[in-house]
Amino acid sequence: MSSTTSSFPERIELSGEGLVLRDWTEADLAAMPTLFDHPDIAYWTPIVSPFDEVAARARLDLDRKLRAEGTTILLAVTVDGGAPLGEVMLRRAPEGTELGYAIGPAHRGRGLAARAVRVMTSYAFEQLGAGQVILELEAENAASVAVATKAGFGLLDVPLITGEEKGRPYALQTWGLNRPRPSASPKLSSGTCAADIADTNRHEQQRSRPILGARQGRAQPGGPLRHRSRVINLIGMWSELKTRVKTANRPSTRR
Ligand SMILES: CC(C)(COP(=O)(O)OP(=O)(O)OC[C@H]1O[C@@H](n2cnc3c(N)ncnc32)[C@H](O)[C@@H]1OP(=O)(O)O)[C@@H](O)C(=O)NCCC(=O)NCCS
Repeated sequence: MSSTTSSFPERIELSGEGLVLRDWTEADLAAMPTLFDHPDIAYWTPIVSPFDEVAARARLDLDRKLRAEGTTILLAVTVDGGAPLGEVMLRRAPEGTELGYAIGPAHRGRGLAARAVRVMTSYAFEQLGAGQVILELEAENAASVAVATKAGFGLLDVPLITGEEKGRPYALQTWGLNRPRPSASPKLSSGTCAADIADTNRHEQQRSRPILGARQGRAQPGGPLRHRSRVINLIGMWSELKTRVKTANRPSTRR
């Protein structure tokens, strides 16, 4: 199956793990610079810097355009559907279903990123039919490596993805998590999902970057490659995850 053929719902709200992942709205524009205008977000992600309210407006517009095109979902990370604390991205690309994440500096260390990744991954498996979800990140980005590990992903034995952005080179590792087998996840039984399996044999490549993914910065001392293991298929992990998905095509109460 092509990973870019089906459309996304116009409205998405995902609940689970004590989080509500919801659509961004105009009401969030003032808060977005507080979350994203930060040196490490500029350093590790493709998010524009400086990030002001003009950038916020442009990002919301792009978010809606990419959603309509069926390529990318950007959701605000919240605990109750209210104040945004960060963002999680899902991008359907030919090479696989990729997630990205950024949490506002004031809200880190609460498990928000790891939980948001788990909820979004469950959505990808259960609702989008993804066979594998991938993360692309720099080995030197210790926080992102920790999030990937905490969320159950394993480093894939594939070549680094190299490129250049914001005038600097990047080299991305690919981490992956496979969809659990049907026997371990009753929700996914008998043909409800078509596989969308990333090509784990892809060769070293350069390609356009997602609007929220990882990006290479300068090499940092003391940052050797970590977790050089093959991908771990954590069969059964998702059977524990109770994720409620609301994808109704109805006007949002927040708009
Ligand atoms: C990476 C980022 C999203 C993590 O957000 P977060 O909500 O603080 O992460 P979590 O609280 O879910 O932490 C998950 C795990 O990572 C660990 N972790 C978090 N920050 C860390 C750091 N700087 N160094 C090492 N480990 C870290 C946590 O301790 C936790 O593990 P534990 O539960 O075993 O203790 C956040 O630091 C960020 O937005 N960074 C800038 C943008 C970025 O790098 N995005 C990723 C691009 S690939």
